[in-house]
Amino acid sequence: MNKLLGALARQFLLRIDPESAHGLAIAALRALPGAPARPGDPLLALEAFGLKFPNPLGMAAGFDKNAEAARGLLNAGFGFVELGTLTPHAQSGNPRPRIFRLGADGGLVNRLGFNNDGYEAALARLRAARPVGVVGINIGPNKDAVDRIADYVRGVKAFSGVASYLTVNVSSPNTPGLRDLQGRENLDALVARVLEARDSCETRRPVLLKIAPDLTSWELDDAVGVARARGVDGLIVGNTTLSRPASLKSFAAGEAGGLSGRPLFSLSTQRLAQAYLRAEGAFPLIGCGGVDGAEALVAKLEAGATLAQIYTALIYRGPALIDEILAGLARILRARGLRSVAQLTGTRAKDWAAEA
Ligand code: FNR
Repeated sequence: MNKLLGALARQFLLRIDPESAHGLAIAALRALPGAPARPGDPLLALEAFGLKFPNPLGMAAGFDKNAEAARGLLNAGFGFVELGTLTPHAQSGNPRPRIFRLGADGGLVNRLGFNNDGYEAALARLRAARPVGVVGINIGPNKDAVDRIADYVRGVKAFSGVASYLTVNVSSPNTPGLRDLQGRENLDALVARVLEARDSCETRRPVLLKIAPDLTSWELDDAVGVARARGVDGLIVGNTTLSRPASLKSFAAGEAGGLSGRPLFSLSTQRLAQAYLRAEGAFPLIGCGGVDGAEALVAKLEAGATLAQIYTALIYRGPALIDEILAGLARILRARGLRSVAQLTGTRAKDWAAEA
C-alpha cells in the first residue's frame, strides 16, 4: 500500500510545475521525517574526512537549500546530506520558471540562482532539529556581495558549530561570475581565507571544494593544485554543466542554466577520474552527476570517488531509489568478494579519465 501511495504521489509530483513539486516534497519530509532508517548493511559503512558514514550515498546540495528536511532525508536511508547552498542574507533567486524537466533524457535544467532563506534562518532550524548523522553545509556568496570571499568566511564561521563538513561552492553556473573563483589566483586567495577562518573556529571542520564539470584539463590542474597546496580536505566533482550533449531529445534542453541527471553522467565521471589521478591520494573525492542506480554508483567509485551524491534521479524515481541503489551496491560488493566500499575507489580511474 505504501509503495502504491508512493508511486501515485510521484506520478502527481511529476505532472505539476517542478518547483511546486519540490516544495511539496520538502513539506512532506518536514512533516513526516519517517522512522529512522533500519540499521544499514555494515558492509557499506566507511570513514572519510574523519567522519563515519553508514553508506556512501548522499543527498546532493540544492534539494534542501534551507535546512528543513535533514532528519527526513537521513531517515530515508541517505548516508549523509548536504544542505544549501546558503548565502549570508536571504535572496529570492532568478524569476520563475527556473527549473525544467528533460523527461525523455532523465535530466533537469535549473537556473535557480541561490534562492535561500540565509544563514540565520537555516542555523535556527538546524539548532532546533538536531539531525543525527553526517550533515554538510554548502556555502556561497550573495549575488550582490561586494567581497565574495568575505561571504564564504562568514559561512564558515556561522556553520562550524553545527555542520559535519563545509562545502565551498564555486561552481554554480547561475550566479554571474561565481565560476571565475575557480581560476588559480582567485581560488588560492579564497581557499587561504576560508581555511584560515576554519582554523580559527572552536571546532575544526573538514572543508570541501565543489567544482564544475566544465573545467578544462588546465583549469582542473589549477583547481586540484590549489586544493593540494593549501590542504583542502576533499573535492566534490561536480556541479551542473553548461554544456548540452548532442544526444538531448527534450525541448527544454534549450533553456539557460545548469544541466543535471543522466546526460551529465559521462562528463562528470570523466572529470572525477581526472581529478582523482591529479590528487594522487591527497584527499578523498565525492562523485556527483547522473547517478541513477547501483551500477552508476559503482562507476563513480571506480572512477575515484570515496562517496557519491544524487539529486536528479531522485526526482524521477522517488525515495525508493535510495534502498534500491544501496541493496544493489551491497550485492555487487558481495558478488565480487569485496569487504568494503573503499576497495572499489579508483580501480578504473585511468579508463574513465581517458578523453572520449
Ligand atoms: C542543484 N545543484 C546545486 N549544487 C550546489 O552546490 N548548490 C545548489 O544550491 C544547487 N542547487 C541545485 C538545484 C537543482 C534544482 C538541481 C537539479 C541541482 C547541483 C547538484 O548538487 C548536483 O551537483 C547536480 O545536480 C548533479 O547531480 P545529479 O542531479 O545529476 O545527481
